[in-house]
Amino acid sequence: MTTEHPTRATYEMPPELARVFTTPPARASRTPEAPPVEAPTAVTVTIDGIEVSVPAGSTILEAARARGLDLPTLCYLENLAPVNVCRVCVVEVAGSRVLVPACSRKVEPGMEIQTESERVRHSRRLVLEFLGSSVDLSLAGPRRPDGDLARWAERYGADTSRFGPPAEPSPAGARDARDAGHHTRPAVQRPPWPRPSRSP
Ligand code: FES
Repeated sequence: MTTEHPTRATYEMPPELARVFTTPPARASRTPEAPPVEAPTAVTVTIDGIEVSVPAGSTILEAARARGLDLPTLCYLENLAPVNVCRVCVVEVAGSRVLVPACSRKVEPGMEIQTESERVRHSRRLVLEFLGSSVDLSLAGPRRPDGDLARWAERYGADTSRFGPPAEPSPAGARDARDAGHHTRPAVQRPPWPRPSRSP
């Protein structure tokens, strides 16, 4: 028995298949555009009893500066990621057990912040005294009467030599070369672990 296949002349395309070729696809009526970017929402916080609204994502430091406050900072710089090492910028946030660094902590709606409470002033005074006695702060202007450090020390009643004389200025790279285990030292060679004794 032979099977007959339709020839080209007699083949008729089924209508549902023909529609695929004859119906043009829907075309976009306009050039696609990028989705609209949502404007940053404002966050309202209270700083030293006064409400201030700042864009979401701002830090407490930025909010405080928007309110015209001069918060001390040492390790912070606008073009660096916050490193949170000096802690001189700490503020008190209602509901928080510890003082928080203003340079890195983001504002949250309804936050109540105190930038000059007794606890904050006490912490800043101690931080300035510890740093002044143990860290090379020569570039922060401790010895210049108009330097920021001198101004903050006066503001918080800090004696920056209370715990010892100021550290001597170090040339660049001196600390790395001196401290064991730092970048320029070869890695410490450890003896191999003792092998566990095999049971017979
Ligand atoms: S400025 Fe140093 S921790 Fe904030």
